[in-house]
Amino acid sequence: MTILVTGAAGFIGSNFVLDWLSASNEPVVSLDALTYAGNAGNLASLKADQRHSFVHGSIGDAALVGRLLRQGQVRAVINFAAESHVDRSITGPAPFFETNVMGTLHLLEAVRGYLAELDEAARIAFRFLHVSTDEVYGTLGPDDPAFTETNPYLPNSPYAASKASSDHLVRSYRETFGLNTLVTNCSNNYGPYQFPEKLIPLVIHNALIGKALPIYGDGQQVRDWLYVGDHCAAIRLVLERAAPGATYNVGGNNQMANLEVVRTICALLDARRPRPDGKSYADQIAFVTDRPGHDRRYAIDASTIERDLGWRPAVAFGEGLARTVEWYLDHADWVADVTSGAYRDWIARHYG
Ligand code: NAD
Ligand code: DAU
Repeated sequence: MTILVTGAAGFIGSNFVLDWLSASNEPVVSLDALTYAGNAGNLASLKADQRHSFVHGSIGDAALVGRLLRQGQVRAVINFAAESHVDRSITGPAPFFETNVMGTLHLLEAVRGYLAELDEAARIAFRFLHVSTDEVYGTLGPDDPAFTETNPYLPNSPYAASKASSDHLVRSYRETFGLNTLVTNCSNNYGPYQFPEKLIPLVIHNALIGKALPIYGDGQQVRDWLYVGDHCAAIRLVLERAAPGATYNVGGNNQMANLEVVRTICALLDARRPRPDGKSYADQIAFVTDRPGHDRRYAIDASTIERDLGWRPAVAFGEGLARTVEWYLDHADWVADVTSGAYRDWIARHYG
């Protein structure tokens, strides 16, 4: 049997595939459209690995997906493929709906066609795991309880609206066609291979090249940070043990304001790679115009996955952030590769 991982050359997808093949011998077919956010080099260490194959293509190509499912006798799809950056969804929403909604629809249709050819036992054993986000729930006030799986969907950005739509689509395939779906709604991830448009890698990169560290608004927006390896472990567990149709919130139990996160990164860099002038990287912090519709606070109540499956985050934020800073310091070539061309255009357009 084989699993099909979509969006496998992105941040979480590549961490998941590397993690999967370090723990299991079950083959993986990686599918990725290699948008600006996808980097086949993230999976370069698997080049000679017989258990892995990489296919350059889109989840929107139902014929291609159908062929991959049949050739690999795939028993599960894990769908990471998406446009994932909130700021880009504000500048240009359309690709978010093309990929996250229509792409997911074509992927689901390909799966439905494939399952129609399988016997009942294989159909029952099959899983479609859709990787979603806490942003579908909207924003929290300072004293609101954390998001549970029963919170209403109140998406505020085009990105969140497209992810909410895809979650609804997946649900409808379960209810209407009996597809054995699983959905995970996770909080902010950080760790190796994250594209430096997102807060943590952007700040590390900008700090080292002497640029401003842009803080939107007052920097008091709260996110619930989770180390990417912990997210991958949660997905593995949900895939293997969760009942079909289940939805799980996954979070870090680690709420922090953006300004505090950035100051912590600066302190780590001050210790590990001091500035030549002896000043702190925190001197580079610059408050900039806020993101429109910026959600003030996210927090995940992960008690259901802990109770049902025994999952809880293993990596504390201080430890995870230190590992992450270390990874970016050790992978200057990777950063140089992904921050050329199109990346520079985005930074120039967005930050001016
Ligand atoms: P990412 O932007 O780093 O990676 C997305 C990957 O999907 C890229 O490799 C890209 O090339 C690929 N892709 C885009 N369109 C595609 C298409 N049509 N067909 C095939 N591949 C396509 O994103 P990420 O941060 O790794 O997020 C992965 C998933 O997890 C997304 O669905 C995202 O919504 C969700 N998520 C992310 C976070 C987070 O903090 N990063 C948290 C919760 C949920
Ligand atoms: O909550 C899960 C979500 O986390 C995922 O679904 C998204 O795919 C992922 O991108 C992330 O969304 P955020 O918008 O929370 O992540 P981002 O890293 O873009 O921003 C984190 C916080 O930092 C947010 O409050 C905005 C702020 N920020 C971000 C950037 C890029 C800044 O203050 N300055 C910046 O330059």
